[in-house]
Amino acid sequence: MTVKIAPSILSADIMNLERDVRAADRAGADVFHIDMMDGNFVPNMSFSPSVVEGMRRVTDKPLDIHMMMENPDAYIKPVIDAGADTVLIHAESTQHIYRSIDLVKSYGARAGVVVNPGTPLETVKELFPIIDQILVMTVNPGFGGQKFISGMTKKIQRLDQLRQTAADDNFEIEVDGGINADTISQCARAGADIFVAGSYLFNGENGLNKRIEDIRSLAVE
Ligand code: DX5
Ligand code: ZN
Repeated sequence: MTVKIAPSILSADIMNLERDVRAADRAGADVFHIDMMDGNFVPNMSFSPSVVEGMRRVTDKPLDIHMMMENPDAYIKPVIDAGADTVLIHAESTQHIYRSIDLVKSYGARAGVVVNPGTPLETVKELFPIIDQILVMTVNPGFGGQKFISGMTKKIQRLDQLRQTAADDNFEIEVDGGINADTISQCARAGADIFVAGSYLFNGENGLNKRIEDIRSLAVE
């Protein structure tokens, strides 16, 4: 599968969000990653459906919504109406993940399931036939700028092996948390296809173009 770089706007300059999104768009971002946090499921709060609507006005790139909230079902339709392309739901956030994924698909959007570092892959195996993406968290969710949990590389590898042997292998593997020039190659070698990066892209020293180019080349090596 082709490598996709997904800037996480959590690390963009919120007072200059449009400027940063346009810059990332021009620099070759493949997808935009929008974190929605409710202050309950994770100890932080962030973007709402109105931000998704605003993003939709400034970029034509796909918008991936990473829902970190209790009761995600209530926000599926609002974010899709606002312009979301893919809705990513934590397996730990709902008692009925299969139903939540079905709900996303019923509105015509792509659906993804997210697993926290402590959640076993067994939890999501039954979703393979209906899922478009599986997001493996490589940090505990809630904040940008955290350190990549190195044990997650093996988990990505195991998921890729499961995908290769499964009858329903039509989903992308995504990673989120601590992705930078030091960690991206191991994730790519382990089988990841989509790479979310926040602080590395928006708070780094070189230009955004160079940073996107750098991590992309490390991922395709
Ligand atoms: C963390 C969020 C991430 C965050 C990643 O819970 O889901 O999307 O923005 O930030 P970095 O790339 O700085 O780890
Ligand atoms: Zn995220």
